[in-house]
Amino acid sequence: MSDVQRPRIHLLPPQIADAIAAGEVVERPASVVKELCENALDAGAMRVEVDIEGGGMVRIRVSDDGDGIAAGEMPLAVARHATSKIEEVDDLWRVRSLGFRGEALASIAAVSELCITSRTHDADAATLLRVRAADVVEQGAAAAAPGTSVEVRDLFFNTPARMRFLRSPRTETSVCIRAVGDMALSHPEVAFTCRCDGRTVLRAPGSGVLRDALRATMRADRYAQLIDVAIEGEVTVSGAISEPRMHQATRGGMVLIVNRRRVHNRALLAATEEAYRGLLPGDRHPFGVVVVELDPNGVDVNVHPTKREVRFREEGRIFAVVQRACWAALQGAAPSSAWLQWDTSPGGVPAAFLTVRDRGEHHAAASLRLPGMGVEWRSLVEAGESTGAQSETATPPAATDAAVALTGGDDDARPLDESTGLAALRPLRAVGQVGSAWLVAESPRGVVLVDPHAAHEKVLYAELLGAWGTAGGVAGRGGEGGASQLLLLPAVVECEAMQIARFEAHAEFVESCGFTLEPFGPNVLRCTAVPAAARDTDAARLVHELLDTLDLGDRPASERQHRVAALVACHAAVRLGDPLDPTEQQRLLDRLVDAPGGTTCPHGRPTVMVLDDATLRRAFRRPG
Ligand SMILES: Nc1ncnc2c1ncn2[C@@H]1O[C@H](COP(=O)(O)OP(=O)(O)OP(=O)(O)O)[C@@H](O)[C@H]1O
Ligand SMILES: [Mg+2]
Repeated sequence: MSDVQRPRIHLLPPQIADAIAAGEVVERPASVVKELCENALDAGAMRVEVDIEGGGMVRIRVSDDGDGIAAGEMPLAVARHATSKIEEVDDLWRVRSLGFRGEALASIAAVSELCITSRTHDADAATLLRVRAADVVEQGAAAAAPGTSVEVRDLFFNTPARMRFLRSPRTETSVCIRAVGDMALSHPEVAFTCRCDGRTVLRAPGSGVLRDALRATMRADRYAQLIDVAIEGEVTVSGAISEPRMHQATRGGMVLIVNRRRVHNRALLAATEEAYRGLLPGDRHPFGVVVVELDPNGVDVNVHPTKREVRFREEGRIFAVVQRACWAALQGAAPSSAWLQWDTSPGGVPAAFLTVRDRGEHHAAASLRLPGMGVEWRSLVEAGESTGAQSETATPPAATDAAVALTGGDDDARPLDESTGLAALRPLRAVGQVGSAWLVAESPRGVVLVDPHAAHEKVLYAELLGAWGTAGGVAGRGGEGGASQLLLLPAVVECEAMQIARFEAHAEFVESCGFTLEPFGPNVLRCTAVPAAARDTDAARLVHELLDTLDLGDRPASERQHRVAALVACHAAVRLGDPLDPTEQQRLLDRLVDAPGGTTCPHGRPTVMVLDDATLRRAFRRPG
């Protein structure tokens, strides 16, 4: 861009400055990385290089090949409320640039030593400006190619209170890397390189293809589970989201991008999660990237000091489009391992329709319809037979609570009352397995249908907690599942920096749960033992999820134990579709009636359904 066309940096009049969400811009090193990258992108850069040392507290440098800053405007660039990006208050509603407050460089310069070297494309030389704690300490000519390079040293040197809130350099580094990753995802046409302490940790090619940026920022096994999202219209939604067969313990894995800006927005996040309703266990979350583009007029970006939040004029509409886009993507994808749908028949009588499909050899579908007086129980076990029924009823899951729909009629088969407990079913005798899916059992209370996975999960969960001496567990029988079991072949687990940080914070706890993990090179762990209950599972995947389950906060150990027990139980439990022989069926039922704490599995799904005598009599029109 020539010097004539380029908007000049100017001080905003006070009334505009006051209209801008004020507050803390620089919370941690990653905020600096984000602001400097945003400036590079606003300057039209096609290549951005980020260097981070010592978690960003020692040095951060962001260099770009963008338009540069004219020599005479350098001091204004670091002045508060000086920007080249907006002119008047209404511009705040038209913002297309990432920056608009004229605050970032001034805020960073106030808490560090900041040095800008910049050269416009028509200038003969570069200019340098060094500012320390907001005072200019050096100014003059320098040798550099066109573009801008901003170096920040000694971050927070004059604000020790802020410094105390920072985490370890390793954690801060990983948050910085994530900030660069977000930039690469929101601007796939720009090439990003990120080096940490001299090592290249991220290289996005700038091909313009989101998938390429994703591949550069995501672990290969997660990348392999993504399906594309695409809806065109006034509101365009694109991106790639996880298949339901892979999920994670926290919400942080779903990146939302609105008009090229990474944002945090509860409603949009809820819209993506809503699309997975019934596909994921209650406390698990999807991951991926959802990119929303709409008229800037429909978004207020000026609601948060670090611009991380946005507000929509028509939130309900955006929510619906995002939910529909994600839902359509999930429908178009290959069958997922479980699909649960509750629907209400025209007469308003609740009915449950449950289809389970698996990509492997087992295809099972079962439907339990309870239209008033009749009970219809159907199970299709042969491969392929389930698909017709499935597509006919495939509509987005209604936003009704599944549990409400299920227990909506007094006449229906229903999960046992939580207060009754599973012990009330004793003795529970196995009758058989429908296909390779549901177990049918007999109890003094009636016919009992059992979800073998949920039941096994519940049993293992209680036994693991018992073995670890945690409240809510059942000690004794089967408690050996909590002991450590050496693996024949140790698993080498490649991790993200954040996962390593979590492991380091909880190494002792992890060991107390029966895992033996040790560092095995940069960002790699070796797992030589797992809890005995999980000896036959994919150890690397389990360790990944274990590290995702941990947190960096100070939650009580017992809460962490509950979460790890639920995770191990989920991995180790038999799958719906695994055939069980009569002895195994009976053993599972025996352990199930001993499990304390309600009738649901640790993810909140029912383990059993009881068709009692009264229900069956009504259904078969045999007055009792
Ligand atoms: N890498 C860069 N290349 C070219 N110009 C830059 C660069 N970084 C900053 N500038 C100029 O300096 C000005 C001030 O930057 P600063 O980041 O402080 O504010 P802003 O980007 O306008 O708004 P915000 O505070 O929302 O980021 C910008 O408006 C821009 O003109
Ligand atoms: Mg800026």
